[in-house]
Amino acid sequence: MIRILMVCLGNICRSPLTHGILESKLDTEYFIVDSAGTSKYHIGSLPDKRSIAVAKKNNLDITNQRGRQFVVEDFEMYNYIYVMDKSNFENITKMARNVEDIAKVKLILNESYPSKNLEVPDPYYGGDFGFDTVYKMLEEACNTIVNKLKQ
Ligand code: 4NP
Repeated sequence: MIRILMVCLGNICRSPLTHGILESKLDTEYFIVDSAGTSKYHIGSLPDKRSIAVAKKNNLDITNQRGRQFVVEDFEMYNYIYVMDKSNFENITKMARNVEDIAKVKLILNESYPSKNLEVPDPYYGGDFGFDTVYKMLEEACNTIVNKLKQ
């Protein structure tokens, strides 16, 4: 079994979307996908309505997901940990116990845009990048991840 964890700040906007997208593209007999937030703001919450809506528009149901906070044990449980932005990266790697833990943590857009260190913008407060744009970025990254995993 290969385990993959998606991480953002709140675990209600970006990581639940990425979780749903990647899970829909992989055989759940061989892969486990989950998501978590670095904060405790939305523990037990459904994904944000706007994430649920954009997922639905793309034929994906993410309403089975509930928010949870990243815990240090996740370093043991997961083979790959993808973060959405640099602050997630810092928050997670601060909790790492050794270099192996740190090596598991990657900025997700470095999959589709290697070494560019691009960030998935946080759509929670609105702004230039809406949920549709974020969805497209995440889907592109997930396609690259799937191609890699299948090699
Ligand atoms: P996410 O977005 O990290 O993509 O889930 C956010 C959701 C909630 C908050 C911040 C970002 N918040 O401050 O409550």
